[in-house]
Amino acid sequence: MTGGEVSGALLREFASVVGDAHVLTGDATAGYAVDWTGRFRGHAPAVLRPAGTGEVAAVLGLCREAGVPVVPQGGNTGLVGGGVPNHGEIVLSLARLDRLGPVDDDAAQVTAGAGVTLQRVADADPGLDLGVLIASRGSATAGGAIATNAGGVRVLRYGSMRAQVRGVEAVLADGTVVSHLAGLVKDNTGYDYPGLLCGSEGTLAVVTAARIQLVPRPAGLVTVIVGLGGPGEAHELAREALRTVPGLLSAEYFTRAGLDVLAEHAGLVPPLQAPAFLLLEAGGPGAVEDLAVVAGDRPVAVGTTAADRARLWACRERHPEAAGFLGVPLKLDVSVPAAHWARLASEVGAVARSADPGAQVISYGHVADGNLHVNVVPAAEADGRHEDAVFGFVASLGGSISAEHGIGALKARWLPLARSAQERALFARIRAAFDPDGILNPHVLPR
Ligand code: MLT
Ligand code: ZN
Repeated sequence: MTGGEVSGALLREFASVVGDAHVLTGDATAGYAVDWTGRFRGHAPAVLRPAGTGEVAAVLGLCREAGVPVVPQGGNTGLVGGGVPNHGEIVLSLARLDRLGPVDDDAAQVTAGAGVTLQRVADADPGLDLGVLIASRGSATAGGAIATNAGGVRVLRYGSMRAQVRGVEAVLADGTVVSHLAGLVKDNTGYDYPGLLCGSEGTLAVVTAARIQLVPRPAGLVTVIVGLGGPGEAHELAREALRTVPGLLSAEYFTRAGLDVLAEHAGLVPPLQAPAFLLLEAGGPGAVEDLAVVAGDRPVAVGTTAADRARLWACRERHPEAAGFLGVPLKLDVSVPAAHWARLASEVGAVARSADPGAQVISYGHVADGNLHVNVVPAAEADGRHEDAVFGFVASLGGSISAEHGIGALKARWLPLARSAQERALFARIRAAFDPDGILNPHVLPR
């Protein structure tokens, strides 16, 4: 289903549901039509900003009747073009569903509207935290993080977003509301549709609220950046840390290439010089000593105060911006089995340049998850040659073309590299069961 213009009559019907002020058209839609990287620029005939689940249901009912496709959007921090109207869809912004319930102390859970930012969820209780930590937490929303099954820098300890979700409320494409928010830890009463909605990229239903499990807030945090010779050493060190540091929370890789760009364009001061780096963070008793043993006699920068830790984390957390200083990047988020991560990280730059010799490549990522973010700033036309090369290499290592960002618009073409024909056919049947008319994010994932 393709989008385009919508009639004045339909716009008036939308306005009767969400109010005139929340039906945006023309220039007011611009910020909702382009993604964070600037690579995906679409056009939205309208942006609708409902205030609650009932309004989402009514709006979707109207869209389905009119046969108008819809792209649900949270904080618009996605990196694969899955939340922008690339084909003239209406944008359904969930930003106003921003009610955060009281923390349930007994269960250490909270119910958050889809538009609540991850930072607000994390701050809901001073003794608790959200297990998912991503750099865009101030803008990224609970609904968006569920739709993409967001990962981040603490997956090795707490898992990705799916592992934090105890239930959801969602609206199906025909306006039906389904809700399962009791937060039961054990609940074998049929299909786990909340789990299925995690990572569904807005194709199955619109998540309007979620019951989120919080974790004890880690205390006594210590952050170190260790200077290393290359990816092989980073992998070895991360493996050792996973086995010997009980309080380990993060093991993050980046390189001199990215840090140099951040030093030049963002004023970051590198804490030490080396070809590659591993940032390790741990908490709890013995964390300093445990990390010191892992670092051994390698060059290391240590942060124990909030200010020092923030300074060290900036070296890693600002990496998503680095390639953007050089051009409009392709964000290729891939994962491989642990045994192949060092080869992936060592060779992927040359693989990308075999397709485009002038390409600039900045890689960083979550070593312990087998995950690498390969940011490519093309010199040649971005016509798929970079993805062919990088994803082909990843597939040859038995890996995935999306570790945590999703398939979106960027990767739909390469899904057969990661999923068999039988799996894709099953996806299509699941999708048809949820959204038979194909109005929800029709150009993301296969139909
Ligand atoms: C990260 O790990 O920094 C995020 O996934 C964002 C990115 O890959 O740029
Ligand atoms: Zn990441």
